[in-house]
Amino acid sequence: MTILVTGGAGYIGSHTVRLLRSLDRDVVVMDSLVRGNVASLLGAPFEQADICDSEAVTDICRRHKVDTVVHFAAYKSAGESMTNPGVYWHNNVFGTTQLVEGMLAANVKKIVFSSSAAVYGNPVSLPITEDSPITPENVYAETKAVMERVISWYGVTHGLRWVSLRYFNAAGASDDGVLGEDWSITTNLMPLVMKAALGASGPIQVLGNDYPTPDGTGVRDYIHVEDLATAHVAALDHLDRDGANITLNLGTGHGCSVLEVLRAVEAVSGKAVPHEIVSRRAGDPAIVYADASLAERTLGWKATRGLTDIVSSAYTWHRSQFA
Ligand code: WQD
Repeated sequence: MTILVTGGAGYIGSHTVRLLRSLDRDVVVMDSLVRGNVASLLGAPFEQADICDSEAVTDICRRHKVDTVVHFAAYKSAGESMTNPGVYWHNNVFGTTQLVEGMLAANVKKIVFSSSAAVYGNPVSLPITEDSPITPENVYAETKAVMERVISWYGVTHGLRWVSLRYFNAAGASDDGVLGEDWSITTNLMPLVMKAALGASGPIQVLGNDYPTPDGTGVRDYIHVEDLATAHVAALDHLDRDGANITLNLGTGHGCSVLEVLRAVEAVSGKAVPHEIVSRRAGDPAIVYADASLAERTLGWKATRGLTDIVSSAYTWHRSQFA
């Protein structure tokens, strides 16, 4: 049976598609290509369609004999979601309801959902566990929380079986440098640091050095995109063995500061990273890192790569794209 991957032409989706195909799993990608990059599909079976078109979802599920969906398709810029919220409510939330309606019409009742640690907002305690308070700080994060609830309720009303995965800070690139993050459409730290290190931009702005952290800069749980891909395979296997519906944190359980990231990039690249300290970004928590033990207990999964692996793979990827 085939796995339908929505948003499979995106950053984490393309890494997951490549891994699934390397494991001889039958995959078909559905992506609108509004933000995805068709080159990242590496020849995977592909249907250009929008998740908001439930009839297209049903048709694709039937034609490809789909039995499970991995749902990555969503817009993911926190800042953009605050200036253009309607696009996020429509694409992320309405899109998810239409995706599930289309799946059910084709009797597809298993889904792995790409959620985010952003649903926790500013954590009240650390490490963050799955039962930590859900306090989104922006519309994007709120859409992820609502998408989780939509999927959970389809479990109650229609027997949809699901795993929701809350990623912490996804970063890095494929180990062989073939896939990576598109720095032209992201505001995330890692690609922006690479841009500064490679001279493709001005100095990276360190958004605050007056946080209550060891070096004053923000601390995050950076998780390698290849570790995220293996977690999705483990989640699919969990559903295939009739595992219970569950929400899981995907992180390393370890936090790294902005300055630690800069130093890691300098060590890997041999280049000084031009940077300037500026004021904090509104809404940024000081420290965020996961308690990822439930994913280990449930899926038998844990992250195997650390900051150096992330930086080395990202540098190889961005240097190849920029050179
Ligand atoms: C990381 C750290 C910044 C940029 C966001 C989304 C979240 C999730 C992951 C999808 C922070 C600092 C950043 C810069 C900096 N995305 N920083 N200079 O904000 O933790 O989370 O991406 O699910 O939803 O909110 O990630 O990469 O923006 O920031 O100093 O130019 O780097 O203050 O401490 P964040 P980020």
